[in-house]
Amino acid sequence: MRALFPGQETGFLFIREAMNLSGKIVLVTGASSGIGRATALAFAKEGARVVVCARREDRLEQVIEDLKQAGAPAVHSFLLDVQDRAAVEAAIAALPAEWSAIDVLVNNAGLSRGLTKVYEDDPLNWEEMIDTNVKGLLYVTRAVVPGMVERGRGHVISLGSTAAYTTYANGAVYCATKAAEKSISEGLKIDLMGTPVRVTSIDPGMVETAFSEVRFRGDSERAAKVYQNITPLQPEDIADAIVWAASRPVHVNIHTVVLTSIDQANSTVFHRHS
Ligand SMILES: NC(=O)c1ccc[n+]([C@@H]2O[C@H](COP(=O)([O-])OP(=O)(O)OC[C@H]3O[C@@H](n4cnc5c(N)ncnc54)[C@H](OP(=O)(O)O)[C@@H]3O)[C@@H](O)[C@H]2O)c1
Repeated sequence: MRALFPGQETGFLFIREAMNLSGKIVLVTGASSGIGRATALAFAKEGARVVVCARREDRLEQVIEDLKQAGAPAVHSFLLDVQDRAAVEAAIAALPAEWSAIDVLVNNAGLSRGLTKVYEDDPLNWEEMIDTNVKGLLYVTRAVVPGMVERGRGHVISLGSTAAYTTYANGAVYCATKAAEKSISEGLKIDLMGTPVRVTSIDPGMVETAFSEVRFRGDSERAAKVYQNITPLQPEDIADAIVWAASRPVHVNIHTVVLTSIDQANSTVFHRHS
C-alpha cells in the first residue's frame, strides 16, 4: 500500500495522534484585523511559523508586534490585495524558500459592503465583495494548493458564514459570496481526492470584529447596534475552531464547522437581552 501520509503504512497506530502544529508554516490572509489576527496569534501559540498578509501596512505591523509579544517563533509578512490576481501570484511565487512550503492556508480575507436591497444597491459594493470573498479566495487557493499537492501535505481552511445557509434581508450579495465559498470548499475537497490535502470551511455566525464597521463604511454607531444586547462570538472563538480543525490527526478531514454564539440560532434568529 502506498502511504499517503506518515504513519499510514504502520496501520492504526497514528489514529489518535493530533497533528503537531509546531514548525508548520501557516499563511493567513486578511491578518490585519479580527478573525485573521486572532488566528495568526493562535497558530503562533501552537509554535507554528506564521505568514501574515493584508492591505493595511500599519495594522499589519501592529499584528507582527503582537505576534512577537506572544512569543511567535517566526513571522513573515507581505502586503497583499487578494482582489489583484497578478499580485497574488507574484506574492506567493516570491516567498523566500524557507517560507514557501505552506502547510496551512487560511483564506480569511473578506468583507461586506452595505446592507441594501439588490435592486437599489450600488454595483460597486457587489464587485468589491465578489472580487474579495470569491475571486480573491480562488486566486490565493490556486496559487498555494499546487505546492501542497506536490509536497503531499497541506490544509486549506476558508472562512464561510452562517450567511451561506440562510439569506438575510438586504444581504443577498454578501450571502451569495459565502454560499460560493461553501461550494468552492466542497468542490476543492472533491478535486483533491487521492491527495492528503485537507479542506475545511469554518462558518461562523456573528463575530465581534471590525466587520460591521467596514460594512457601514466607518459608521461605528450603526455598527455597534449590530452587537447590541447580544453576546457575540469573539475572534478568538473562531481561531480556536480553526486551530482545532488544523490539529486533527492527518487522516481526519473536518469539512465544516458551523458555530454561533449562544444568542444566535441562524443568520436571522437572535436573542437580544432586554
Ligand atoms: N465578523 C463576522 O460576524 C463574520 C461572520 C462570518 C464570517 N466572517 C468572515 O470572516 C472573515 C474575517 O472577517 P472579520 O470579521 O475578522 O472582519 P475584519 O475585522 O474587518 O477583518 C477583515 C480582514 O480582511 C482583510 N481584507 C479585506 N479585504 C481584503 C483584500 N482585498 N485583500 C486582502 N485582505 C483583505 C482586512 O485587511 P485589510 O483591510 O488591511 O486589507 C482584514 O484584515 C471574512 O471573510 C468574513 O466574511 C465574519
